[in-house]
Amino acid sequence: MRLDVVTIFPEYLEPLNVSLVGKARARGQLNVHVHDLREWTYDRHNTVDDTPYGGGPGMVMKTDPWGDALDSVLADGYDTGSHGPALVVPTPSGRPFTQELAVELSERPWLVFAPARYEGIDRRVVDEYATRMPVYEVSIGDYVLAGGEAAVLVVTEAVARLLPGVLGNAESHRDDSFAPGAMANLLEGPVYTKPPEWRGRDIPDVLLSGHHGRIARWRRDEALKRTAANRPDLIERCDSAAFDKKDREMLSILGWQPAPDGRFWRRPEAVEE
Ligand SMILES: C[S@@+](CC[C@H](N)C(=O)[O-])C[C@H]1O[C@@H](n2cnc3c(N)ncnc32)[C@H](O)[C@@H]1O
Repeated sequence: MRLDVVTIFPEYLEPLNVSLVGKARARGQLNVHVHDLREWTYDRHNTVDDTPYGGGPGMVMKTDPWGDALDSVLADGYDTGSHGPALVVPTPSGRPFTQELAVELSERPWLVFAPARYEGIDRRVVDEYATRMPVYEVSIGDYVLAGGEAAVLVVTEAVARLLPGVLGNAESHRDDSFAPGAMANLLEGPVYTKPPEWRGRDIPDVLLSGHHGRIARWRRDEALKRTAANRPDLIERCDSAAFDKKDREMLSILGWQPAPDGRFWRRPEAVEE
């Protein structure tokens, strides 16, 4: 997979050299290119922003540097044999970045990231490239960062670990929280490693039992508990077919019951507890 990032802070992308993404680069599984947007400015001050039409606070990133940079980056990629680019534009007004979207992006051969600063990029840039390739405007959460570089790191890491051969253990991401289809989209429960006792704290006995069925059931119950506590919306969205008899028993203990439409809802008194 080829990744291009155009930014006014190339140094912000240094983490792409370490850990999982860095190793994937070193092994040739990821071909990463970071570009300084200011290379495509032609005035003395390397200006990339200007005041917004219609007034208001803040500055807006100009069309020309972005257009010239993206044209050049795309031409270079095509010249070196890349194909099928998709533009990824981090923005708090984009669609939520989810594991499902990470899977979708991991199936593309070439991602070009356009992280903005200030109040974002002149809209005409996105509209222009949307006529040439898929454009993903993505938000990494309901908060506002100063720039899109951190979002690029988030998306890149989530995507890279899904690429074939990048994770040491291919099974590792199957049970992840949010893994599509896995555990009915429940959050993953707690995990433990050696030693078995630390500062007077033991690990749950079942994990030492060697009984795979009981361990799987315990993990599932913990996932249900954690999801009910932290992300009840995930349980509300699940089709009841996702839950077996034991799941239903645990959900009932946690204060959930099936509604006529098959979904589960939490009894109000259980929420207050
Ligand atoms: C200060 S923000 C601009 C916020 C803009 N005024 C708005 O409310 O949509 C500058 C840049 O940071 C990035 N950014 C900020 N929050 C983000 C988020 N939650 N997800 C993805 N990118 C974000 C985007 O690239 C954005 O254009």
